[in-house]
Amino acid sequence: MKVFINIKSLLQTRTKPELVVKGREMKNLPCIDHAWMSVKDGLIERFGSMEDYQPEAFSNYEIIDISGSFILPTWVDSHTHLVFAEWRNQEFEDRINGMTYHEIAERGGGILNSARKLGEMSEDYLYHSAFSRLNGLIEQGTGAIEIKSGYGLSLESELKMLRVIKRLKENSPIPIKATFLGAHAFPESYKNKEDQYIDEIINTMLPEVSKYNLAEYIDAFCETGYFSVEQTERILKAGANYGLKPKVHVNQFNAIGGIKTSVVNNAISVDHLEVVNEEDISFLKKSSTIAVALPSCSFFLEIPYTPAIKLMESDIAIALATDFNPGSTPSGNMNFIFSLACIKMKMTPEQAVNAMTINGAAAMELSDHYGAIAEGFAANFIVTKPINSLSYLPYAFGENHIQSVYIKGEKFKA
Ligand code: NIG
Ligand code: FE
Repeated sequence: MKVFINIKSLLQTRTKPELVVKGREMKNLPCIDHAWMSVKDGLIERFGSMEDYQPEAFSNYEIIDISGSFILPTWVDSHTHLVFAEWRNQEFEDRINGMTYHEIAERGGGILNSARKLGEMSEDYLYHSAFSRLNGLIEQGTGAIEIKSGYGLSLESELKMLRVIKRLKENSPIPIKATFLGAHAFPESYKNKEDQYIDEIINTMLPEVSKYNLAEYIDAFCETGYFSVEQTERILKAGANYGLKPKVHVNQFNAIGGIKTSVVNNAISVDHLEVVNEEDISFLKKSSTIAVALPSCSFFLEIPYTPAIKLMESDIAIALATDFNPGSTPSGNMNFIFSLACIKMKMTPEQAVNAMTINGAAAMELSDHYGAIAEGFAANFIVTKPINSLSYLPYAFGENHIQSVYIKGEKFKA
């Protein structure tokens, strides 16, 4: 049992847990200045203002005085491709030398490059390399994470990836949700018979994924040159038959109607949204689907940023995630996302924190126990170094402002 005292500001304090914060409400970030917080059995027990702190109530607690530091819930990263075989920095060099992301994909690089390498790697190697990356992310403040398959693209390799994710779940101190992304790209062997690959996903892969309980969500890369709206719809409906809810890659490069299809098929989230039109917004507005923005992908590929202000004005709930993957986003650092959201998307620090905590948790159905400082919630939180105000965190970008990360009430050490 621990009690943290003299917290300069305790952020994202909720008495009545909010399951999601809608766009217009996102500017409000509840906090208690000069606060205390107690932790017991891995959960947040109680908290309040130092004015009401009663030391005698905590005589058998470890007392941790953190004068000058802030406490906030750990980041929730609701979109990653954490399991992969190798980095793709050769493609990065090719882009520096003038090739585009699309040109690299067309010559068999990109996702297919990752799939070829993954096929050659042992399950053990994939597990250990992903586990070590995961530990690095927790040190950077991530306290819950979603991980996708999608670099397998065959029954055998997709199952291999999902088993690795399952093993990560069993051994990780933070919650993990798994998404089946068999529809990430068409394998070379299905050229000119793309619909047969959709059949393969639906009739061969999905039953196995379900049989071994390997995923909670279903995803597809709905994009020109990848999966059409019709193909995406077939996959989402087939996933629903196995109880997998959609979280969908849509509107990264083109608005082709994937948002409507996702919303109609009860998607938990639609992710990317670098390009959105009025019709997309009108569908999202009427739904409870969360818009997940991935600004470090925009940064790395030099594509537009998701129009967060516009979406929030339409009262759409936004979450921010990393998209960590070796191709379009080789970083899983949520603190950098915080800076990009404020610097490039013009979100206020309060809006960004809501998007990276409660709404991130909502985008992976964890917001009943993660994403806020609330009684009975998991004691997963970040203690900052001494800082003058919240805005200093995104403002002084590229610096590490984290003093320590607590997971289930214990200081995290990899
Ligand atoms: O979310 N857009 C599709 N998939 C990934 C990138 C995959 C890759 O390049 O390896 C993304 O950006
Ligand atoms: Fe992605």
